[in-house]
Amino acid sequence: MDPGRLRDSFARVAMHGDAVALFFYSDLFLRHPETRDMFPVSMAAQRDRLINALGRIVAEAGRLEELAPFLQVLGRDHRKFGALADHYAPVGESLLATLAHFSGEDWTPDLAAEWTAAYELVAQVMTDAAAHDARRNPAYWDATVLSHELRSFDIAVIRVATVQPLPYRPGQSVAVETALQPRLWRYYSMANAPREDSTIDFHVRMIDGGAVSMALTRGLEAGSWLRLGAPVGNLTFDAKPGRNVLLIGGSTGLAPVKAIAEQLSEMAEPPRTHLFMGARTEEGLYDLPALEKLAAGAPWLRVTACVSDQPDYAGQRGDLADVVARSGPWNGYDAYLAGSTAMTDAVASRLASLGIPDTQIHVEDFGWSNP
Ligand SMILES: Cc1cc2nc3c(=O)[nH]c(=O)nc-3n(C[C@H](O)[C@H](O)[C@H](O)COP(=O)(O)OP(=O)(O)OC[C@H]3O[C@@H](n4cnc5c(N)ncnc54)[C@H](O)[C@@H]3O)c2cc1C
Ligand code: HEM
Repeated sequence: MDPGRLRDSFARVAMHGDAVALFFYSDLFLRHPETRDMFPVSMAAQRDRLINALGRIVAEAGRLEELAPFLQVLGRDHRKFGALADHYAPVGESLLATLAHFSGEDWTPDLAAEWTAAYELVAQVMTDAAAHDARRNPAYWDATVLSHELRSFDIAVIRVATVQPLPYRPGQSVAVETALQPRLWRYYSMANAPREDSTIDFHVRMIDGGAVSMALTRGLEAGSWLRLGAPVGNLTFDAKPGRNVLLIGGSTGLAPVKAIAEQLSEMAEPPRTHLFMGARTEEGLYDLPALEKLAAGAPWLRVTACVSDQPDYAGQRGDLADVVARSGPWNGYDAYLAGSTAMTDAVASRLASLGIPDTQIHVEDFGWSNP
């Protein structure tokens, strides 16, 4: 198998832009109408997400050993979409038909055979992982909303209870689907360490024009139902003797670091820990009372809140990166940070410049462009 050849072949196809996704989905839905219901109601936004990922991933099948862990998670994760082993052949057929259509004269029996073999390899790893997961876990976890609290006009704290226990590690996230936006899944981080009563808190910030965050902050109420996917993410506490801990959350990036703080509070001898929470204005410090409660009577834990865009704020002012940097030194600390790309990039590079090795900086990037 020649990854370079498949990569070039897909790059040439992808040059046709939106038409590629349009062709792929119409081919799939025409030949297999039963698959239509698995996809979002409106296909207008992000229509090209699956086909682009599909093409790029399959083109890399030559590096299967490196790719396998990622494909296993992807295969397991596809259970929540309702994808069954029988769906992989139809998707493969439509992928091949799309590639053939846009490749024109470049499409030879030889190239078709390479794509077929690559797709079969990738599909095999994904379906094997899904079958393995199905022996232990549901395709998704049903959860009912116990409480929904708007802490500011754009931030909600939501408590849910899952019907079946959902084992996870503090710092991880799950994909969430609400009946208000069927088949649109977005990741949210559990904001607490696992509890015996199977309740989970989520902190959701409304993104301007954001389909799911808008529904979760403004549309949800107690009694609503959610579906949760399998836990993902590596922002998990790595206990190392003698190391201190720096927890940093920008806006609702607080959620996973708060879960880790709760985990530390359950240890017999928690490491010395400093938790920073940043927001643009004081109103964005939506969970400060709970953090202060956690820190009260916990001499190992210090909490610092800071605000970047409110000159009359009485506490610490400035971006998280600046406030953290001036509160150091941080020798001997492992850092865990979560929030927007802008915030995590800024803080991670500042910590690196302060001498914390990259390997000790753990990041969960929520991906928003604006903090
Ligand atoms: C692992 C992980 C954990 C997360 N945990 C949380 C959490 O605990 N709390 C929380 O509030 N959010 C969290 N997020 C972000 C969340 O998953 C959604 O991206 C966010 O709520 C926006 O979804 P939406 O459907 O409202 O917006 P969309 O409808 O997806 O997007 C609307 C618009 O917002 C902007 N936008 C949204 N997302 C992005 C992005 N990823 N990159 C660039 N622009 C974007 C774009 O302009 C886009 O057009 C997490 C993300 C990840 C990856
Ligand atoms: C080799 C096989 C496949 C690969 C590599 C693949 C890859 C992907 C990727 C990377 C995503 C985006 C994930 C995300 O945004 O969270 C995705 C989404 C999705 N996939 Fe697949 N997939 C494959 C097969 C299938 C099959 C067989 C089905 C079943 C019909 C399917 C249904 C979906 C659905 C419904 C989505 C969500 C789309 C959306 O939200 O717009 N996939 N896939």
